[in-house]
Amino acid sequence: MRKKVTIVGSGAVGSTAAHWIASKELADVVLTDIVQGLPQGIALDLAESGPVEGFDLHITGANSYETTADSDVILFTAGVPRRKDPVTGKFPSRDELVKINQDVVSKVTEELVKYSPNSIIVVVTNPLDAMCHVVKHVSGFPRERVIGQAGALDTARYKTFIAMELGVSVEDVHGIVLGGHGDEMVPLPRHTSVAGIPIRELMAEDKLQAIIERTRKGGGELVNLMGRSAYYAPASASVSMVESILKDKKRVIACAVYLQGEYGYNDLFIGVPCVLGAKGMEKVIVMDLNAEEKAMLDNSAKAVRSVVDVLGYAKA
Ligand code: 2OP
Repeated sequence: MRKKVTIVGSGAVGSTAAHWIASKELADVVLTDIVQGLPQGIALDLAESGPVEGFDLHITGANSYETTADSDVILFTAGVPRRKDPVTGKFPSRDELVKINQDVVSKVTEELVKYSPNSIIVVVTNPLDAMCHVVKHVSGFPRERVIGQAGALDTARYKTFIAMELGVSVEDVHGIVLGGHGDEMVPLPRHTSVAGIPIRELMAEDKLQAIIERTRKGGGELVNLMGRSAYYAPASASVSMVESILKDKKRVIACAVYLQGEYGYNDLFIGVPCVLGAKGMEKVIVMDLNAEEKAMLDNSAKAVRSVVDVLGYAKA
């Protein structure tokens, strides 16, 4: 049977993810949104590129949830971005934004899981780690089936900057970024190489530290340039996770995962390497971090915890 992916939210990340899924011919796609006509239009437009691009999928748009029934994977991109209130001219505080998106994500999750109780949900909505908590809390899904997209994107940015600095192919850069999807994320130079050659043999420490800093602020750099959030790399990073699940590839990707003792954290979503396959998050890989790396991860976990506390859920 054909696989089915629902993409919640037909904004730039959602529609770009639909594009990558179609071009890789991974699954039938249902795009949803609250805006009438928008998901239907994007789906039709994308479907009409099928005869040109040579992909053969059902791509549907919907404003309700019936059409999403029996999805294998749900890519959750819907949420409210941080923008000025048109009346007051003020930005919402971080905590207000958390509450606004908690409300949106809760309501949508309730609907989604009614129709696709066995799905695997990949969360993209920000603030990412906290929104993973909301989806897990409301869905009641086991941790294997609620996975946040953060490390896949942050690692992609890190590798891109290294390849640009060294003038080598991105294909030969290997590395990983752990932690929450925020400025405290933890790129790991000790685990970074180019074709197996440790990065510190190839790059001066000041250049490496500048890349680490740029990676941490990677989302903000794009907001400053474009006046809105990024979407190509976030969408492609999300689809790499969806692909590993649909094809049971067992790729090792840093994902926001609900930790239960691993790395010394309990009941907290944070980015760590894990194996992604047909069952979702199939294994957390526990790395042997040194004291400095662990301290950075602790710092990131603390920042995530402070956002998660705003949700007001009782500790599990
Ligand atoms: C980013 O890092 C918005 O989370 C997104 O670009």
